[in-house]
Amino acid sequence: MAREPATTRSTRPALRLFWDSTIGKKAVMAVTGLLFVVFLLAHMAGNLKIFFGAGTFDHYAGWLRTIGEPVLPHAWFLWIQRAVLILALGLHVVAAVQLSARDRKARPVRYAHRPRPRASFATHTMRWGGATLAVFIVWHILDLTAGVVSQDFVADRPFHTVVADFQVWWVNLVYLVALLMLGLHINHGFWSAAQTLGLESASRGRAIKVAGTVLAVVITGGFMIVPIAVMTGWVG
Ligand code: HEM
Repeated sequence: MAREPATTRSTRPALRLFWDSTIGKKAVMAVTGLLFVVFLLAHMAGNLKIFFGAGTFDHYAGWLRTIGEPVLPHAWFLWIQRAVLILALGLHVVAAVQLSARDRKARPVRYAHRPRPRASFATHTMRWGGATLAVFIVWHILDLTAGVVSQDFVADRPFHTVVADFQVWWVNLVYLVALLMLGLHINHGFWSAAQTLGLESASRGRAIKVAGTVLAVVITGGFMIVPIAVMTGWVG
């Protein structure tokens, strides 16, 4: 009978053990969360090019499709990035759902007639905010990448599409609410990730909280300024 190679036998259980442990799932959430922060900083910085006009913004969107050329074929970098983000999002969401199920199971119910102790405000915000963000991301891609729900989608002219989108009050409302949720999520998530990864200490505690808040304000504000600029006629 063929024997399983030694490497498979030794690495698979270790990965499995890691994923099954609570700290393993939290570490996966922390690392994938930090990856999203890197993506969001880059996306936000790119969006700010809208202030330099249609030519610059549309040229930038075109340039995104040429990253890695000629080593990579046209737009491959974007597809690799999409694959990595989808995988990371899948892991982030599955770990979150499993951790919250584990948390509910572990909570002692002292008396049958008493209501279960309620999760903290931060936990509720993370769970509901996370679910809202997941719905927003799907809607956002259908809106500005696929053009399915956009008000006036023109392929290869993202400046036109974005400006047309933010002429509509309820589209602005959707974006602004989602961005506030994103800010709250980053603010608490950054601190949680720092704790999981062992960066938190008595001396650094406050600095980490401040860093999380600054990051949340910069990302949220940097994204929000685009719909606000279109709404007020600054861009358009
Ligand atoms: C005012 C806020 C935002 C604006 C104006 C905006 C704009 C855009 C535009 C124009 C695209 C299409 C890019 C292209 O095809 O070249 C895009 C794609 C995308 N955006 Fe945003 N975005 C915003 C906020 C966000 C937020 C908050 C997230 C995540 C939480 C996000 C995640 C994505 C993703 C994942 C894509 C798809 C990238 C791809 O095609 O691979 N965006 N965004």
